[in-house]
Amino acid sequence: MNIDLSVKIGSLTLRNPIMLASGTVGYGNEISEFTDLNKLGAIVTKSLSLKPRKGNPPQRITETPAGMLNAIGLANVGVEVFLKEKIPFLKKFDVPLVCNIAASTIEEYVECTRTLTREETIKAFEINISCPNVREGGLIFGNDLNAVAKITDKVRSATDKPIIIKLSPNVSYIATFAKAAKENGADAVSAINTLVGTAFNIITRKPKLQNVTGGLSGPAIKPVAIAKVLEISREVDIPIIGIGGIMDWKDVIEFMIAGSSAVQIGTLNFIDPSAPGKIVKDLEGYCEKMSVEKISSLTASYIL
Ligand SMILES: Cc1cc2nc3c(=O)[nH]c(=O)nc-3n(C[C@H](O)[C@H](O)[C@H](O)COP(=O)(O)O)c2cc1C
Repeated sequence: MNIDLSVKIGSLTLRNPIMLASGTVGYGNEISEFTDLNKLGAIVTKSLSLKPRKGNPPQRITETPAGMLNAIGLANVGVEVFLKEKIPFLKKFDVPLVCNIAASTIEEYVECTRTLTREETIKAFEINISCPNVREGGLIFGNDLNAVAKITDKVRSATDKPIIIKLSPNVSYIATFAKAAKENGADAVSAINTLVGTAFNIITRKPKLQNVTGGLSGPAIKPVAIAKVLEISREVDIPIIGIGGIMDWKDVIEFMIAGSSAVQIGTLNFIDPSAPGKIVKDLEGYCEKMSVEKISSLTASYIL
């Protein structure tokens, strides 16, 4: 059987639904030793801001049952260094590059997008309005419907390339945010970013993270993420990229049935950086066994 693993995110066609999630593979260089990037659907960069950011002081990461907490605080090289020093490496690969952008002001989102859109290697933008680990921007935007609408609208006018709005799960009703993104010109939404969490050391009574709270990721958040994807899928007609706790091909299928057109792999890259490539192969096996000719037919195929 000839299996078609390709999926569409707006005008962007991916050879398969497997994308690498922002912040878990840097700018692609380290993971390229473990997984053939040319076999993946897309790579998403670490969040980029206009100027370089150091991020939060350590301790920035701690393990939790079935997951991890991180409070990196959007450490990144900044747009200028990214274009000069990171793009040349990424150009070597035949895989769509999605630039994730984070900012403290609406103007900064627009400026970043306008600068990066000139680089033809960049095929789409993922707008991070949902980072729980920075004081300005991040969740202040992600929790505010008007801000999400305004950012989407302004970024839309700065690029012709597809725009994906990365939504926060730390809201009571995520579908309203997906609707605001769609109505203001987004091509897709990705869901979810991390959930706010914390952990204490019971001897010192201090938080395990210097930032006190961090973003929870990994298998612990998968059922929450799938519920959010389903909520959006039932309420809003927009492509959804599912993210949260994917550990194997079965999780990918589950996310697709719940409404995802594609998915992103995050925490798993720290456990097994060769996993994304293996998952692509395994998806083909599932389709073969289940007589699914086009994997895209699984999207929102739930029976409720
Ligand atoms: C260490 C770490 C750093 C992250 N950095 C970013 C980031 O810079 N921008 C962003 O949009 N999401 C970031 N994320 C969130 C992931 O892209 C993803 O949404 C989240 O981890 C849930 O997926 P997972 O459970 O598969 O890891 C980060 C996650 C981790 C674990």
